[in-house]
Amino acid sequence: MGFKQLGSTGEEIPAIGLGTWEIGGRETPDYSRDKENIKILQAAIEMGYTHIDTAEYYGGGHTEELIGEAIKTFDRSKLFITSKVWPTHLSKEELPKALKGSLKRLGTDYIDLYLIHWPVPDMDLKETLTTMAELSKAGYIRYIGVSNFDVALLKKSLLISPVPIVCNQVLYNLEDREPENELLPFCQENGITLTAYTPLKKGSLSKHTEKVLKKIAKKHNATIYQIMLSWLISKDNVIAIPRSTNIQHLKENLEAADIILEPDDLQLLD
Ligand SMILES: NC(=O)c1ccc[n+]([C@@H]2O[C@H](COP(=O)([O-])OP(=O)(O)OC[C@H]3O[C@@H](n4cnc5c(N)ncnc54)[C@H](OP(=O)(O)O)[C@@H]3O)[C@@H](O)[C@H]2O)c1
Repeated sequence: MGFKQLGSTGEEIPAIGLGTWEIGGRETPDYSRDKENIKILQAAIEMGYTHIDTAEYYGGGHTEELIGEAIKTFDRSKLFITSKVWPTHLSKEELPKALKGSLKRLGTDYIDLYLIHWPVPDMDLKETLTTMAELSKAGYIRYIGVSNFDVALLKKSLLISPVPIVCNQVLYNLEDREPENELLPFCQENGITLTAYTPLKKGSLSKHTEKVLKKIAKKHNATIYQIMLSWLISKDNVIAIPRSTNIQHLKENLEAADIILEPDDLQLLD
């Protein structure tokens, strides 16, 4: 299982983490599959997932509740939980309340990595980052980061944040390559982890991409999704958070970290 350094922290984070969007609902709670979802989350942790990515927004908070229930029987210190604050909660009054809500639902007294979920035009970035830093100094958050930030906004954040910004979580997969233009080089030069979300493009790929992937997958006795993940994490500073509620897929995704793509594979995929 591969690990990468989180930002410039010296802390190691798994190259493959677990996404949780739609587990327990989309924008609102869906309680209909709670037992099954808790079992899946526990099975994922048992097979070796330690980084769990979630957000207060997911399932209207219910996704965090399910994670909280699932992790009860595990050693919290061995898990790395990322959660995100929604754009309506970025003020110095709202952010501590949002964090408190996440902590309560997750049943934990700290979050490992807390991200601004999306930037919004009218946000007071300095106020938000200062509030996050204060909550971090108070012990409720270990590291802070951002999500869906472009390079300009990330640069601005680095300048005004009282504590290091260790991560930017963005859309990045074999077909969505925008981060490669500016963002990824910037993160690599500045010791920031780029977390690739929707790393499997939810399985909807062009015929051409599938053809290339199949060729390389065959060579490595792997699946095309494993190759997509392996390609992402072959890049410096990149980790990925695929989501699955299928035991076989969860295993395959975790094992993708062991595949070593050769230079000609990487060239073809690039
Ligand atoms: N920061 C943000 O704004 C943001 C935005 C979007 C997503 N995210 C995070 O990123 C995570 C991942 O992104 P995502 O959920 O959008 O999409 P994704 O991980 O690219 O794709 C998930 C889909 O792929 C399938 N899948 C997973 N592994 C597979 C495998 N080995 N073989 C075949 N199919 C497989 C899953 O179905 P099965 O369940 O059947 O395996 C599911 O339908 C989210 O869950 C969330 O935590 C963050």
